[in-house]
This record gives sequence, C-alpha cells and structure tokens, in this order.
Amino acid sequence: MDEDQPAMIRAKETVESLEAYSAPLEGRRGMLRLDFNENTLGPSPKVIEAIRSMPVEEYAIYPEYNELQRVAAKFFDVKREEIGLFNGADAAIRAVFDAFGEPGTVFLTTAPTFGYYQPCAAQQGMVVRGIPYPETLEFPLDAFREALADKPRIAFICNPNNPTGTMLDRETILELAAGCSSTLFVIDELYATFTGVTVLPESLALPNLLVLRSLSKSSGLAALRLGFAIGAPSLVDRVSRVTGPYDINSLAVRAGIAAMSGEDEHTARYIDEVARAKAFTLEELEKRGVRYFADGGNYLLVFIGEELSHVVDGLRGEGILVRSMAGKPVIDGSFRLTIGTREQMERFFGAFDRIR
Ligand SMILES: Cc1ncc(COP(=O)(O)O)c(C=O)c1O
Repeated sequence: MDEDQPAMIRAKETVESLEAYSAPLEGRRGMLRLDFNENTLGPSPKVIEAIRSMPVEEYAIYPEYNELQRVAAKFFDVKREEIGLFNGADAAIRAVFDAFGEPGTVFLTTAPTFGYYQPCAAQQGMVVRGIPYPETLEFPLDAFREALADKPRIAFICNPNNPTGTMLDRETILELAAGCSSTLFVIDELYATFTGVTVLPESLALPNLLVLRSLSKSSGLAALRLGFAIGAPSLVDRVSRVTGPYDINSLAVRAGIAAMSGEDEHTARYIDEVARAKAFTLEELEKRGVRYFADGGNYLLVFIGEELSHVVDGLRGEGILVRSMAGKPVIDGSFRLTIGTREQMERFFGAFDRIR
C-alpha cells in the first residue's frame, strides 16, 4: 500500500464482494428498443396530459401519497393496507430483502431469472440458491419443491419468468406458498397484464405471500418508476417501513393516478396489439425454422446459436436493440426479443433476414 495514500474505507464485506446489477442501458434513444420489454409506444394520452399539467408550484413541495394509495387499491381491487407503493418494482424487491433478508439464510429462486434479485440477497449476506431450468425451459417444479423442504427464508417466483417466459400455474403457486408458512413467497408479476395470469386475489388470504406489480411495462411508465407490493397488511407494513419517506416523486404520483383512474383504452389496445404481434412473430420464426421459447409475457427467447453476436450486432447496426443472453446457462445462444406492434415486428424481420 502507498504510505502517502489515505486508506480506502471499506464497505460491508457483503458489499465489497458484490457484483452490482449491470445492464446495457445507455445509448438506447432513437433506436427500436426490443431489448427491455418496455412499452414501445409510450403511455396513454391522459397520463401524458397529467404529467404535462403539473403546476410549477408543485415542484417545491414534497409529494403526498394518500390519493395514489386510494386509486391503486381500487385499481387492484384490494384494501389500502394490502398495497405498498414503491419507486418501481425494483425498489419493492430491494425492500423485501432489506426487511426480511438475514445473513446466512437461504434465498430460493430459479436460474436464470430477473437479475436484480441476486445482488439484493447477496447484500444481506444471504445464501442464493437458483434452481436451474431444464433444457425444455419448463418450471423445475420437483427440484423447487425439494428446496422448499429446507425452509428458505425468502422464495421468489418470477411469473412469467424473465428472461425465459416460463409460466407456473396459479394453483401450484398458491399451493406451494400455503404449504411453506415459514417462507416468504414473492411472486413477481411484472408481466401479468400481458398473460392475464395472477395469484390475486386468492393470495391475499396467505400471510406469507407478496405480489409485485408495476406501471413500467404495459402502462409505458418505466421512466417514472412506480411499483407495488400487494399482500397481507403485516407484510406490506414491513416492506414499507424500510423505504424513504419520499421515494416516489410527484410526477410519478400524478402519472400513476391518471393511469389507474377509470378506463385506459390506450393501454388495453396496446396489450391486444402485442398479443397479435406475438402471434405474427411466432409464425414468422416458424417459417424460418428458428427455435424459440415464448410461454408468457411481451417477450420471447430466440435461439440463434453461434450466430448470436453477429445477429445482435447486425440488428444494432440497423437501429434495432435486442438483449443477448450470451453465456447464460441453458439459454446461451439466444436473445430476448421484446414484442412491440405488428409494424415494429415487421421491421425487425426485415433486418433479421438481411443480416442472416
Ligand atoms: C421480472 C421483473 N421484475 C421487476 C422489474 C423491475 O421493474 P420496475 O421497472 O417496476 O422497477 C423488471 C424490469 O424489467 C422485471 O422484468
């Protein structure tokens, strides 16, 4: 060590050894973004109007949350004390681990799955256990059940799973949670608006299950960051205790109220459009003899094998972003393709054919 340099202050051991969640999120403006499962058209006009009309006076005032809480509870058809508000589902995930993750206890999930769970668990000194998907990408139910017998502290099921799209039926999830009362189950339902599958409202009767939702995907509000944890009041209370008093900003409050009040035909139309565009995409992949896995969500995995980096780079050269899964166990050689509108998927196939 250089004697003249003051010693660096080390963080907690769990942080020193942490590999932070990283995703290629820069330089995406102006491209056709089929890489992060966002809404490719943006939010509904009523939401845009609500954001634009925020009075300047509001800028200087700390946000208030009562109205948003009321509207969100009505939207999800739950009681106010059954829903917690967060700065995106990411912040709800973080809060789950802050509130319930204890050093040396087990965090159970599947692998590969959404990348932010692992660093949150590791930061708490938890032992991460990811049950691998088989080659078929079906949910590894037997192995997951076996792992539950060891009573993990927290178990996450991402349904549909990101990035594989794998779905587990709601009855099985409810049965697993009901049979493991000492494990906190978190069901990440970020894409439930696209699948129509949710464990709500039956899950509300279970004292050990939280559902995560957000306005980032079908509602087109990824930039504003608004997510929800829905479950028994005792759980919602604990995850809400570990958040800051003003973690959600006033623009998100306004946008959220507008998005969840009354009918939102714009978003309903978008969800229909994505369903049609997905059917078109699957047909086109089949015509080309390309393997895919597309169980649930506004995305699917396209298996390209050794050509992967050539195709992903080539698409980028054509102004189209997809997410490479290079190096990930079981899904190496694939990319995740977000489904946008039919027109956007036609543009994707035009570029795909030119490149291959
Ligand atoms: C499965 C899953 N959970 C959570 C998130 C985070 O969502 P939010 O934008 O609400 O933080 C994402 C975002 O891609 C996701 O795919």
